Amino acid sequence: MPKKILLFCDPGIDDSLAIMYTLMDPRLELVGVVTSYGNVTKETATANAAYLLSLGGKPNIPIIPGAAQPVQQEEVTYYPEIHGEEGIGPIRPPSDLKYRLYPFDMIRKLIEFYKDELIIVDTGRSTTLATAFILYKEQMEMVGGFYLMGGAFFAPGNVTPLAEANFHGDPTSSNYILKFAHNLTITPLNVTNAAYLTPDVIDAMSASTTNPYASMIKPIFNYYYKAYKEKVPGLVGAPIHDLVTLMVVVNDNIVEYIYYDAKVIEDIEAKGMSYIDLRPGAKDGKTRIAIKLNHEVFISEFKKVMLGNQKR
Ligand code: BDR
Ligand code: CA
Repeated sequence: MPKKILLFCDPGIDDSLAIMYTLMDPRLELVGVVTSYGNVTKETATANAAYLLSLGGKPNIPIIPGAAQPVQQEEVTYYPEIHGEEGIGPIRPPSDLKYRLYPFDMIRKLIEFYKDELIIVDTGRSTTLATAFILYKEQMEMVGGFYLMGGAFFAPGNVTPLAEANFHGDPTSSNYILKFAHNLTITPLNVTNAAYLTPDVIDAMSASTTNPYASMIKPIFNYYYKAYKEKVPGLVGAPIHDLVTLMVVVNDNIVEYIYYDAKVIEDIEAKGMSYIDLRPGAKDGKTRIAIKLNHEVFISEFKKVMLGNQKR
């Protein structure tokens, strides 16, 4: 039985690859996509998700628009230099693309329908998922487990020296999730930074006759890779952060974990910094935190799913 996935995201190039992967891996079944502000505006993220679902032959998967801004009264920073003005590099959804949007309460309905079979994955800012926790406390307890891309441990951040973008975007909401989510796994930047795809893997994907995204993957990747190379000269590939968060739902051997209670700093100077209590004698916590990535396994799983013909 494939794992039922409700994905909260902000596509975004790495979110887009996560959506593609989820649609193509027979061990995963995407049952809903919740779109929010983050890499791009909520509206752009929503249109991008709709386009990717339609290209993947799944236009009927419910799309549920979420938050347009964080709970802090701050202006949102978007990242066109990394993800493109429209979020998928040079690719734009057709202007006449038709798609249906579902109300926020669809989240409650999906949980009540799938109960503990449902896995919630959040690869965006934390605002929308925290809101679902506030609104649907009883239902959230029914969910099988939660996976977040967020934080950075024993490693620098990406939007500030201390903070990773998803936890920096709305640290109050991140803390809410870290406190209340059960069976929680996080794949932070220290692991996702190592999850890089190289141009040869992308060439192979673009030559695939079974991958519905084959014709667009090269321009998308090239845009993202160029941006990363400008930031970090000498990179041999581009890290596809959000992809890892989906992959670990069905692959136990891609990363190694430690168990701690993670928290996020909300004060201005260290805003978004994630931390755990490492003092000797401190208790182990409830959150499974990915700490090290096995790149060989990551690539071989990616190729198996994206170059194969398993689902269609
Ligand atoms: C995370 O921030 C976003 O910009 C990416 O899509 C990813 O979810 C990496 O820090
Ligand atoms: Ca994201």
